[in-house]
Amino acid sequence: MTRALSLAWSHVGAAIYDPFLALGERRGMAEHRRALLARAHGRVLEIGAGTGLNLPYYDRGLDRLVLTEPDAGMARRLERRVERDKVGAEVVRTAAEELPFADASFDVAVSTMVLCTVPDPEAAAAELRRVLRPGGRLLYVEHLRADDDRLARWQDRLAAPWAALAAGCRCDRRTLELLDRSFALEPPTRHAWRGMPPLVRPLATGAAVRI
Ligand SMILES: C[S@@+](CC[C@H](N)C(=O)[O-])C[C@H]1O[C@@H](n2cnc3c(N)ncnc32)[C@H](O)[C@@H]1O
Repeated sequence: MTRALSLAWSHVGAAIYDPFLALGERRGMAEHRRALLARAHGRVLEIGAGTGLNLPYYDRGLDRLVLTEPDAGMARRLERRVERDKVGAEVVRTAAEELPFADASFDVAVSTMVLCTVPDPEAAAAELRRVLRPGGRLLYVEHLRADDDRLARWQDRLAAPWAALAAGCRCDRRTLELLDRSFALEPPTRHAWRGMPPLVRPLATGAAVRI
């Protein structure tokens, strides 16, 4: 794909993102975001912030809020939303695998449906661990490979076409196991992502502590 075509595709993806998620937001995801982000205090870093669907749920009294996003189409919408809503956040166009921040420079990191999409999730987890201070928390909402064998088999079969359709999102990723290797995982809360296709319905929310 040429650079121009890939940029155009990125803007199309960003334009359809909020409408694609709208039903799921109404059927529970907005509430998961609200409950999770009530736990964000101090210096906060969000990875893969997308179009900024988490912005309404951040406390306006944070010491620092940095929103990172590597995709040009998403980042443009994010920057506009930050400006429109006067959020006082910094937007940095970067991938989670290479965070341009000092060690231990954040109290909280946030990942909502991002670890499914990053090309190198081990590198992203290592970077999140590096930039969090000891005792800092990664707050996450992530969809998962299903515990149910039948659904897991469908996720394996359809992982490649789903990724092609959904901008690289892997529906078969074992994200809790990934976090467990780098952090002390608090017991996650399991949900169904209602209003979304079954492939991405198994969901977990919670915190992973940087030790
Ligand atoms: C499903 S969207 C989630 C967006 C947002 N976090 C939300 O909750 O609506 C996945 C996001 O991950 C971003 N992403 C893709 N590759 C990434 C990477 N290597 N590092 C960080 N974010 C990435 C995408 O650009 C997209 O914004």
